[in-house]
Amino acid sequence: MAVLGIESSAHTFGAGITEKGKILANEVLMFPIAGKGMIPAKVADFHSKNVARAINAAIRKAKVTASDIDGIGYTKGPGLGPCLGIGYLAARTLSGIYRVPLLPVNHGVAHIEIARHANRFRDPLALYVSGGNSQIVGLEEKPFRHYHIYGETLDIGVGNMIDSFARAAKMNPAWGSTVAKAAESGSYIQMPYTVKGMDFTFTGLLTNAISQLKWQSVGDVAFSLQETAFSMLCEATERALMLTNKRELLVCGGVAQSKRLREMLHAVCMAHGIKFGYAPNEYNADNGAMIALVAEKMLGAGQRRHSIKQGASQRYRIDSVEIAW
Ligand code: FE2
Repeated sequence: MAVLGIESSAHTFGAGITEKGKILANEVLMFPIAGKGMIPAKVADFHSKNVARAINAAIRKAKVTASDIDGIGYTKGPGLGPCLGIGYLAARTLSGIYRVPLLPVNHGVAHIEIARHANRFRDPLALYVSGGNSQIVGLEEKPFRHYHIYGETLDIGVGNMIDSFARAAKMNPAWGSTVAKAAESGSYIQMPYTVKGMDFTFTGLLTNAISQLKWQSVGDVAFSLQETAFSMLCEATERALMLTNKRELLVCGGVAQSKRLREMLHAVCMAHGIKFGYAPNEYNADNGAMIALVAEKMLGAGQRRHSIKQGASQRYRIDSVEIAW
């Protein structure tokens, strides 16, 4: 059973193919964001121009033919509306032509599931950190099997916060790895630290860091911003681990590519004898393989949705999704 997964929730258009849980192809094309951020309509235009290119490349790489595809998964949400719409349209069209099930996948569930799959974890707590999302989630059985949100950002995602800082500091490219590089030479200066139980906020920290750029070195501000934000995530995650008694921790999503965040979470896990894992970087960034993987699990669990009404949803909450596998 081969499944095609299409990801288009933000700046990446991805097409991945899996077969029996094995990733056969993972083609990604990324909108060049440079230092300017994203205008959704322009990104959607980029996606629409790259649909055929990415899907054809994935089919060639996987050495399958279109008739081998038994289901088509796409990112239903959350994400940017115009971008989600392109992936949905592509998936719906192909599922109609080839008469195979159309499977709506939650983007956050896909990030967690590919990391769970890579580490063979059974019941992990997951810290899901990306541009638009920052949540601490874990499986709960009631009222139905789903990823319960124990804690989350009360304002913006940690990745968005770091990217906004990088743009304000005129870094190029303006994203996390550039901030991490600048932080290597920095030392700590005090910044606002806001954890409320297992929730956290980042806008106060961002405003403070941008204003400190006027009189502190970029290295010191970058270092302190990163240490403060990641410490907040670690404190909230440690509290959730103690509350849930889960014995495995995953970090996933775009910000899971940060070595420093992994190092800090690893230290938390070591202190409590908890297993720690993450997926290879290729699968922490947005990608189509994770969508294919979850779509294949949905098919296997009998969640066949032939309805074309599934559509896309910008606010498709992770805790509304039934995890039937
Ligand atoms: Fe993502």
